[in-house]
Amino acid sequence: MTEARKPLLIVEDDPALQKQMQWAFDQYETIVANDRTSAIAQVRRFEPAVVTMDLGLPPSPDDPSEGLKLLEELHTLMPSAKVIVLTGQNDRDNALKAISMGAHDFCTKPFEPELLTWTIERAFRVHELQEENARLAAARESPSTSGIITRAPAMLRICRTIEKVAPTSATVLILGESGTGKELLARALHDLSPRSGGRFVAINCAAIPETLLESELFGYEKGAFTGAVKQTLGKIETASGGTLFLDEIGDLPTALQAKLLRFLQERVIERIGGRQEIPVDVRIVCATHQSLKEQIERGRFREDLYYRLAEIVVDIPPLRARQGDAALLAHSFVRKFAAEQRRSTMTLLPDAIEAIDAHAWPGNVRELENVIKRAVIMADSESITAGDIGLEPGDGDADALNLRHVREQAEKNAVLRVLGRVNGNLSRAAELLGVSRPTLYDLMHRYGLK
Ligand SMILES: Nc1ncnc2c1ncn2[C@@H]1O[C@H](COP(=O)(O)OP(=O)(O)OP(=O)(O)O)[C@@H](O)[C@H]1O
Ligand SMILES: [Mg+2]
Repeated sequence: MTEARKPLLIVEDDPALQKQMQWAFDQYETIVANDRTSAIAQVRRFEPAVVTMDLGLPPSPDDPSEGLKLLEELHTLMPSAKVIVLTGQNDRDNALKAISMGAHDFCTKPFEPELLTWTIERAFRVHELQEENARLAAARESPSTSGIITRAPAMLRICRTIEKVAPTSATVLILGESGTGKELLARALHDLSPRSGGRFVAINCAAIPETLLESELFGYEKGAFTGAVKQTLGKIETASGGTLFLDEIGDLPTALQAKLLRFLQERVIERIGGRQEIPVDVRIVCATHQSLKEQIERGRFREDLYYRLAEIVVDIPPLRARQGDAALLAHSFVRKFAAEQRRSTMTLLPDAIEAIDAHAWPGNVRELENVIKRAVIMADSESITAGDIGLEPGDGDADALNLRHVREQAEKNAVLRVLGRVNGNLSRAAELLGVSRPTLYDLMHRYGLK
């Protein structure tokens, strides 16, 4: 099979020159355009990696304004395209201007075919290398945030945020449903921070009775209350030099909210029964599955405290919203627990993977982790079935995974969007979509669009 010829767009208003260039560059699929508008339409349609372009285009072939305008538009429409500008003999200034505007290279007219061929070939090569580079960079984009397994773009963005915020002392608020990995992220933040040599101290504000929470956080002096037999440091002080993780911050009782706010403002604590103000250097990270905004509206959470805690907010999406992550995590948990149980290599069978993919995971990663752990312990063989996981076998939600189906859906949506914009102008719609009018009619017919 011979490789398809690469599209090369030639923007040139002189018909004789058009012919000459098509003939000279017949190793490419040459596409010609006479003016700015048709050039844009051809770019939409063929997405050429390389464009050669006469700067003097109609309606003003004697000045470069139309050409430079096209250059600008090409840059927005297809930033990766390499544009080679053809200029007159004495037009160095405009050539330089075009280069400064992002043109890849220039040649003077009349051009030497051999020289222009080299220039075009080199432009294709540069384009290829850049695309390859971008692909590799995307593939490398696995989080350096250790232990966090994900490929979902929203989660990868969160990992980037964590990496950026870690070196600062900003207070971070982590939101997310139960089991989404809030504590895992808080620990990653600590590990990546300059405080990683200090302690990571976690306290769950919902799990400790209100009466004890204050002494847990702030500590007490000997004799402060009955039973205070010796001086005891609170979690805030213990975390000094490190990170204090306040889990379920939404459950912090109102009286303690005021005390915490004061600490955040003054950065000093007083132990219960103590008189001394003790400065503490600690980074605060909080988490909650509740909506703090709602708690504020109900008068259950102090707004001023919220703004102190929410210098940076990280909102973790639930597992069901991270496409592909459930299966990815499941494979990794199988490996982890099989090793822990000293079982030989275990694998998930396709029906198990489909079932995992289809399940909504209301308990998020924690639920998935528990289910896999149980399955690894219970499975009779080295293969884990949907039954071992305790889920219905996948109902063959293959429809959603069928590439043709996905493409068609995207195609239909794009046609719908464009039709909505053009106010009935089908030529314009075809142009925006980069297809011919007959193709557009075809698409509209296929998707039953009027
Ligand atoms: N992206 C992930 N990659 C690997 N393991 C994960 C990931 N997210 C969560 N986990 C694991 O799932 C479990 C639950 O995570 P974590 O305790 O951080 O969640 P949480 O949001 O704090 O939950 P809760 O609201 O129940 O306290 C942990 O064992 C954690 O290691
Ligand atoms: Mg937690």
